[in-house]
Amino acid sequence: MKRIAIYPGSFDPITNGHLDILKRASKAFDEIIVLVAENDEKHSRFTVKERLEMIEGALKGIENVKVDSTKGLTVKYAKDHGAKFLIRGLRAVSDFEYEFTLNAANEYIDHDIDTVYFMSTIGHNFISSSYIDSLYSSGVDITSLVPKSVVEMYKQKK
Ligand code: COA
Repeated sequence: MKRIAIYPGSFDPITNGHLDILKRASKAFDEIIVLVAENDEKHSRFTVKERLEMIEGALKGIENVKVDSTKGLTVKYAKDHGAKFLIRGLRAVSDFEYEFTLNAANEYIDHDIDTVYFMSTIGHNFISSSYIDSLYSSGVDITSLVPKSVVEMYKQKK
C-alpha cells in the first residue's frame, strides 16, 4: 500500500523553510501532496493560483510530490485521497502551541489521520512567509530564502 501524506499550509508564499521540510518528508513517504488551504476570510498576498504556480516551480526534481488546493478540511481531503498522514514543520518552541491545538482539532475530526512533525534545519528556523514579504517590501534581497519561482512572482506582481 502506498504511503501518502499531505503537507497542508497557506504557503503565502512557499519558502525555503517549507521546501526543506518537504524534501526531507519526501524521503519518508511514497507520495506527498502539498495542499494549499483556500481561506476566503484570511487576507492573502498571493492568489491560490499564484501560490500553486510558485510551489510547482519550486518542486522541479522532487518526483513524488504533487500540488493541489482545497477550501475544505485538510483531514477530509486526506481521507478522500487515501492519505493517513499530515506533515507539519516545527521551527521553534513557539510553533508548538499552535500545532498542538491544530492537531487536537484534526484528531477530533478524524482520529485515523496522524500528523508527523519535522524540525526545521538550522538556518531555516527564522523564516516565515510574512517575514519574507516584509523583507522584500523593504528592498532586502530574499533570493537565498525562497525558491526562484517566488522571486519571479514578486517581480511580476510589484
Ligand atoms: N518554514 C518556513 N515557514 C514556516 C514553516 C517552515 N518550516 N512552518 C511554518 N512556517 C510559517 C509560515 O511561513 C507562515 O508564516 P506567516 O504566519 O508569517 O504567514 C506560518 O508559519 C504558518 O504557515 P503555514 O505553514 O503555511 O501554515 P498555516 O498555519 O497557514 O496552515 C493550515 C494552517 C492550512 C494547515 C490549517 O489551518 C488547515 O488545515 N486549514 C484547513 C481547514 C482545516 O482543516 N481546519 C482544521 C482545524 S479547524
